[in-house]
Amino acid sequence: MRLAVWDPDEPFRRWRDALVQHALEVGLAVDVIDAPAQPEAQADFALVWKPPSDWLAGQLGLRAVFNLGAGVDAIAPLLHRLHPGVPLIRLEDAGMGRQMADYVAEGVLHAYRRMADYAEQQAQQRWQPLPLPPRASFRVGFLGLGQMGAAAARRVAAMEFPILACTRSGDARAAGGLSCPVYALQQLDEFLAQTRVLVVLLPLTADTRGLLDYAALSHLPPGAHLINASRGAVIDQADLLDLLHGGQIGSALLDVFATEPLPADDPLWRHPRVRITPHVAAQTLVGPAAAQVMRKIAAIERGETPSGVVDMRLGY
Ligand code: GLV
Repeated sequence: MRLAVWDPDEPFRRWRDALVQHALEVGLAVDVIDAPAQPEAQADFALVWKPPSDWLAGQLGLRAVFNLGAGVDAIAPLLHRLHPGVPLIRLEDAGMGRQMADYVAEGVLHAYRRMADYAEQQAQQRWQPLPLPPRASFRVGFLGLGQMGAAAARRVAAMEFPILACTRSGDARAAGGLSCPVYALQQLDEFLAQTRVLVVLLPLTADTRGLLDYAALSHLPPGAHLINASRGAVIDQADLLDLLHGGQIGSALLDVFATEPLPADDPLWRHPRVRITPHVAAQTLVGPAAAQVMRKIAAIERGETPSGVVDMRLGY
């Protein structure tokens, strides 16, 4: 069986070695193709991160495409247009949940312990202890409760902060074993009004693009904090900046942006209450990802449908 890999972020040989090793474990023989080096070679399965459309269009025998990340917004519409009917399968956790939980936990503690206030005081050589907010009312709200959201929410709950969530359906059964209030997206304003730290882990879809604009974010209590580690375009960045300037939003930890890399002249870079990381909250780990993809290919070979197949109508 032939597997093509298109991943600009990782040396090809790392994928090849890991895929060959895990193929052996599931009893399959694989030929792994370096797609950018051999764009004409045809594959049965493709493992991709942001592949060019002309290459994907030329792959005529694909049985499934694996997205080498959690978010599928860059590939789902393209694949659906070029090869309708070819299933798109996302990575499910594969070592990313723990990284996301670490990232969000740091952001929540940074907000709770008023580190943005102390950074400002340090810049003025000011020594001024500040009161801590009461923990029981320091609610952390998770907007999106997929694999990444649930992993982060479990960690923050274990840190003894009250949590709540908002998901497309508001179905509490989908809360991944978490017992917390779950709001539906139609109740977004009500959810935001309860939320002192907003953790955005929504997929980017037609429904979520630009969802968090000035009007929506204004429902947060004054001085609320924002963490975005999913996709930049879920938030209107100009509106966010206005709310930061007005103090309505007290601080922001941002890993993702509508345009990446964030342009050098973007005012977010210089805002004293914004921390920026270069889309690193949860990075794809080659070993666990290759193991998961090979297990799913083995399931397909047995005639089963693996988990993680993207619903093209919903876009995630
Ligand atoms: C990274 O952003 C991913 O979707 O895995």
